Amino acid sequence: MELNEKRMISRLAELGRVGIDAEGRRIRLAADDADRAGRDLVMGWMREAGLRTAVDRIGNIFGIWETEENRGRDAVMTGSHIDTVINAGQYDGCYGVIAGIEVIASLREAGLRTERPLAVAAFTNEEGVRYSPDMMGSLVYAGGLSAEAACASVGIDGTVLGEELERIGYAGTEEPGFLKPAAFVELHIEQGPILEAEGYRIGAVEDLQGISWQRITIEGEQNHAGTTPTSYRHDAGVAAAKVITFMRGRCLQPGSRTVSTTGCIEFSPNAINVIPDKAVFTVDVRNPDESTLQAEEKALAAFLEELEKTDGVRIRTERLSRFKPVLFDAGIVRLVEKYAGKHGLSCRRITSGAGQDAQNMALLCPTAMIFAPSHKGISHNPAEYTADEDLIAGAEVLADVLGELAEAH
Ligand code: GLV
Ligand code: MN
Ligand code: MN
Repeated sequence: MELNEKRMISRLAELGRVGIDAEGRRIRLAADDADRAGRDLVMGWMREAGLRTAVDRIGNIFGIWETEENRGRDAVMTGSHIDTVINAGQYDGCYGVIAGIEVIASLREAGLRTERPLAVAAFTNEEGVRYSPDMMGSLVYAGGLSAEAACASVGIDGTVLGEELERIGYAGTEEPGFLKPAAFVELHIEQGPILEAEGYRIGAVEDLQGISWQRITIEGEQNHAGTTPTSYRHDAGVAAAKVITFMRGRCLQPGSRTVSTTGCIEFSPNAINVIPDKAVFTVDVRNPDESTLQAEEKALAAFLEELEKTDGVRIRTERLSRFKPVLFDAGIVRLVEKYAGKHGLSCRRITSGAGQDAQNMALLCPTAMIFAPSHKGISHNPAEYTADEDLIAGAEVLADVLGELAEAH
């Protein structure tokens, strides 16, 4: 079976050109206009590949290849997402969707028969930038969140996801979970430095770390920047800074695998000569071990309690997202290794540091992932890059793994 490699690479670039703003930043947030344009492209490619398309109530889109003989059987599924972060690269998520379309098209074009239907999905709001939680579409698909609750999510811009899906024409009618998966395999770029640094071409992803997202609001007292002696201050900005450095300190403890990020922060009134009375910021904490992640959350909560006393501030926390670490299916991980070997590709087992739609699909069926190397480990950045030959190698492994799972012959 031959993949149309050129078509896959050029589609990736074409989708990558959708949603570039006036400042040259790539932004396709869930259910915005750019996301609609990206979805339209992907749906067109699915149809071109001869796939039946479907959209479910949370806006997940599917391209399904089924035949008279295998219709009604559980499907072997692949896919990822096409929404992006702000100022994103072109590979994150899009690679898995476009390669998935290509692989299924190639199996079809090669005249192969499969015992099971094959399907490729593009899940809604994986990034979680506009609406929380992240990995939302796959979570709904897997039954971990109702479509109603997800559609009622209010975004960072005050919009309601369900209304936005209606507006862009992607509030579908299929019930999430309508297509029963026999297995799910997601192809994705690594987004970290390990494969390239160690000289591997393929990552067989065996697990994925847990993710904890909170929004923290600290309220202090607005006052004059020049006249207020330090001991009189209740500075929400300083308190926020203490939280950030406290979490960095946890990450730097010997042997710690915790990572912590504050990617959003807002002070108010946000003026150069005014002590902020309010700081609103996010904390994204991750660890591959659930009990350690819980310990980090407890330590943060205790620190916030202490901070209220020492700094004379009030603190409120909101949970935005929480995912436990996931162990992928050992059988599929072995298949990834087997087919990497068949293609002469060096392969190593690896943990996903990023959240992935696969972690939710793992609630439904045997699931694993394939990683392609990320140059210098850069991701969530326009400089994100994976060499064409690595993209092609990953897709070839995906094709063989899906072929075996679907019993192609
Ligand atoms: C998804 O990209 C994540 O935040 O890991
Ligand atoms: Mn992704
Ligand atoms: Mn991402």
